[in-house]
Amino acid sequence: MALEKLRKEDTLEMRKRLIGQSCRLFYSDDPVKIVRARGQYLFDENGTRYLDCISNVHHVGHCHPSITAAAAAQMELLNTNTRFLHDNMVVYADRLRATLPEKLCVFYFVNSGSEANDLALRMAQQYTRHDDVIVLDHAYHGHLMSLIDISPYKFRKLAGQKEWVHVAPLPDTYRGLYREDHPDPCQAYADTVQHLIEEVHRKGRKIAAFFAESLPSVGGQIVLPEGTRLKSQSEYVRAAGGVFVADEVQTGFGRVGSHFWAFQLHGEGFCPDIVTMGKPMGNGHPLACVATTVEVAEAFTANGVEYFNTFGGNPVSCAIGLALLDVIEKEDLRGNATRVGAHLKDLLKNLQLRHQIIGDVRGVGLFVGLELVTDRQQKTPATETAARVVKRLKEEDNICVSTDGPWENVVKFKPPMCFSMEDAELVVRCIDRILTGQLHKDAAVYSSYQKMVHRYTDHLQIH
Ligand SMILES: Cc1ncc(COP(=O)(O)O)c(C=O)c1O
Repeated sequence: MALEKLRKEDTLEMRKRLIGQSCRLFYSDDPVKIVRARGQYLFDENGTRYLDCISNVHHVGHCHPSITAAAAAQMELLNTNTRFLHDNMVVYADRLRATLPEKLCVFYFVNSGSEANDLALRMAQQYTRHDDVIVLDHAYHGHLMSLIDISPYKFRKLAGQKEWVHVAPLPDTYRGLYREDHPDPCQAYADTVQHLIEEVHRKGRKIAAFFAESLPSVGGQIVLPEGTRLKSQSEYVRAAGGVFVADEVQTGFGRVGSHFWAFQLHGEGFCPDIVTMGKPMGNGHPLACVATTVEVAEAFTANGVEYFNTFGGNPVSCAIGLALLDVIEKEDLRGNATRVGAHLKDLLKNLQLRHQIIGDVRGVGLFVGLELVTDRQQKTPATETAARVVKRLKEEDNICVSTDGPWENVVKFKPPMCFSMEDAELVVRCIDRILTGQLHKDAAVYSSYQKMVHRYTDHLQIH
């Protein structure tokens, strides 16, 4: 509570003085100071409420009472070193196992998506005894040095591409190499991976892994083309002796609605060799995981070196993870993601009919992107307008969204999974108003929405 008593200006001054400036703030010109949150709503130090359209970490809603209760109860009882035997870790692993294909049945708990991907890379290299990695263009897989190396989104701004890293084109049918008008974009994109593998072999190198997000996020909320999707790519990689790593750090735990894991969108029977998970897993608590096959796990164990992670899979983290799985089921949040996500996409598609600047609307479940372009033919990124939409939504409507994609022109929606139909309607109306060039918000629309929010917050006893 003491921290809340700092004046906003003092917090900002201390942050500038004490915290590394490469750690950026949202809305750096006029940052928001959030002091509490519930569901999909954030509250600043004056009690002003913001609608959160982007906190994909706070998956089942901010400060969900079931998660808080599970964490507090376990914290009071025991939180100890992961080398002691404890029920929570094994019960949680068993619950996760039930969500995955049978082959993915060995688990390693860690504390962040970066740790999970770093471990996956180690495992892949140890299992295959190969070194090289294929990644999709514009990908981001984490902040460790090993992951900066396999993240084109980062290494292009830093030391550049290492010789063991190979970049395949992003299968983006809106503005990528092969587009909607291509007769078979799935096969064309799969072929790019096969050609890359042949090139790697010609250099006398061998593929350890292909890392791919099941739905590329930083790349611009990309939904891969219908059809075989990543299945063929994974087959080519396996034929070359490598493994397929599905990075589900952003997309797992039902965000896509129809499936628990986004890789399950890639076709019946498609099974990665390694799945990494993080962000939504602990609803804000640092909890992440690597799931893999017995074969990969045995190869990882074979050198006799212990894998020890002080905090990964501790009793409190696992209690939180278990509670999160229960909430997803009890509150039918996958159903909600399907329904509200479809509604949001429909509303945005309607908006596209009236606003030339909307080049593309895409998404699955509550993973939705709105791509803005100044020219539909040339697909010139409307980066400035996207930034203006983000700023005005925050300043005029108290709505938090942000942008993604190589040109930061894709307005992204990855809200907590309790996001409602009314939330979707409000944000689309506000975007409509901003794109139409209206200066002020529509009072009638806003007051009916406010009434709905009050009903909701009263129900949750948020005061
Ligand atoms: C796809 C993906 N993988 C991995 C990571 C790294 O996760 P963390 O920030 O928890 O280390 C991120 C983070 O943004 C991500 O988006």
